[in-house]
Amino acid sequence: MSSPALRAARYARMRWNTPLSDSHAELLLQRLDLPAASHLLDLGCGWGELLLRAVDAAPTEVTGTGVDVDEALLTQGRALAADRSLDARVRFVAHDAADWREPADRVLCVGAAHALGGTVDALRALTHLVSPGGRLLFGEVFWQQSPTAELIDLFGDQTGSLADLVEQARVTGWRVLHLSTADQREWDDFESSWLAGSQEWLLANPADPQATEVGDELDSRLRQYVGGYRGILGLGYLVLGRPRAAAQPGSGDESSPVLEVAEQ
Ligand SMILES: C[S@@+](CC[C@H](N)C(=O)[O-])C[C@H]1O[C@@H](n2cnc3c(N)ncnc32)[C@H](O)[C@@H]1O
Repeated sequence: MSSPALRAARYARMRWNTPLSDSHAELLLQRLDLPAASHLLDLGCGWGELLLRAVDAAPTEVTGTGVDVDEALLTQGRALAADRSLDARVRFVAHDAADWREPADRVLCVGAAHALGGTVDALRALTHLVSPGGRLLFGEVFWQQSPTAELIDLFGDQTGSLADLVEQARVTGWRVLHLSTADQREWDDFESSWLAGSQEWLLANPADPQATEVGDELDSRLRQYVGGYRGILGLGYLVLGRPRAAAQPGSGDESSPVLEVAEQ
């Protein structure tokens, strides 16, 4: 799937690129507790829907930066920002998240830990990108139930349980301020909306030279979901606090408790 029309179709029915309902997103943003005059950074932002909603709901001094490597998604994000008169407050930057060095008061990293080297490396790197006393919304997959060997082949062997995810956050120096997981309806909606744009394209373009390939890809994804990871793969959303006083995550006694989470 490489033509611009097909790419646009793929994401056309998605609110964002993660299993997350509107009400769940509202709760997460509430727990992120954006202070006035703060800056919000979204690493691996896609088209930045969550970032845009966060900034839109915040006082007008709050600004945001979305970082992604996908130019088409960033262009879409800029257009959404302009539509909502947020273009003066939210910028979208083409940049590798792994090389991003500007910290922010609040950081979103949802479904993009792989861009920072995987869960633990991402959590560690993000301690340098969240200002002291700041907060991080970290969305990451975990196994809700034991995966089959086929699922480990499909998703890699780095994914652990929810307890592992929480422990990884702890040992990298974070305090858990909020924890919730995507429910089955959010997953079904995510998978359906991922498929729907391309299914609609396929129904409208059955004679296109790419139709067979697209149809096979969609059938395969749906089979993998309903016959494989549905109900097995989870998505956890952690709102994590960084202590105001600098701890040394990853370099000292990682079993010692982290310092107080500062209020903003
Ligand atoms: C699963 S999507 C999540 C997008 C967004 N956070 C959301 O919730 O809608 C992962 C995103 O990470 C981006 N990405 C992948 N590698 C990246 C990198 N090295 N630097 C920045 N973004 C990257 C992809 O382009 C994609 O938009």
